[in-house]
Amino acid sequence: MSLAQDVFWKLHEGLPKQGPGSDASTLRALALAGELPSAPRILDLGCGTGRQSLTLARATGGHVTAVDVWAPSLAVLRERAARAGLGAQIETVQQSMGALDLRGRIFDLVWCESAVYTIGFDAALRAWRPLLVPGGALAVSELAWLRADPPERARRFWAGGYPAMRAHEANLRALADSGYLLADSFTLPDTDWEDGYYAELARRIPRCERDTLNPRLTRCSMRRRTRSRCSASARGALGTCSTSRGRPCRTVPITAEHGLRPRNDARNASRVPPIRPR
Ligand SMILES: C[S@@+](CC[C@H](N)C(=O)[O-])C[C@H]1O[C@@H](n2cnc3c(N)ncnc32)[C@H](O)[C@@H]1O
Repeated sequence: MSLAQDVFWKLHEGLPKQGPGSDASTLRALALAGELPSAPRILDLGCGTGRQSLTLARATGGHVTAVDVWAPSLAVLRERAARAGLGAQIETVQQSMGALDLRGRIFDLVWCESAVYTIGFDAALRAWRPLLVPGGALAVSELAWLRADPPERARRFWAGGYPAMRAHEANLRALADSGYLLADSFTLPDTDWEDGYYAELARRIPRCERDTLNPRLTRCSMRRRTRSRCSASARGALGTCSTSRGRPCRTVPITAEHGLRPRNDARNASRVPPIRPR
């Protein structure tokens, strides 16, 4: 395991959620997906430890194929599903979402929360569309700027952290260009970032510094991140699309957006930026 993977796993191990989001926001997006068959087939990409996989399985009574590259997260998800009595509804698959081999299976709902950045928003829209049944739905969250004039400090941070991050409107244009029809969008509340995620990561960083990182790396990277005063909110966008054969296909893309407030915003005092896997 590389040092970056070791650090990432130590910080995220056992977290109730592995990125911004909440059951309430997942259910809100699910409602925007419109009518689904009973027991829908759901593909959850970059599922992590599966907060949203469990929520979707419980809410729909469907079957969730939960995909992630990181085997330890999938093991946690299997345990959580078994404990919740959802073991029969959730199947885990260790694969890269950028090179899926699902043996021709197609889905009523394709879902991706806080993970599309790993292969890129536009590439994901193109690659995942054939996985939808006609009338199926896609939901995806994505970091994006919420304002045209973000603070310089925020710009600098994200230029390094996620150079591909762009404005929400640009993501909506990408949806349209890929043949999706937008149904709706919403911004994740700050509590979706803070509760159980940023707050928990900030609590874990000192132990991780002590146990895992050498002092030089600690000074250069982790402390700087801890001191960052950033906050985030995310916005989702829901829509419909047509399949490449032109048959009507409902889809639910959610784009999440990321905004930063100026440093002197007292509410941001304990917040840290997300740490992305490499
Ligand atoms: C920020 S976490 C989000 C996890 C989960 N969706 C959530 O919101 O709690 C991103 C997840 O994407 C996974 N991931 C990264 N690259 C991936 C890839 N190429 N294919 C599948 N999963 C990937 C990571 O292992 C991690 O579990």
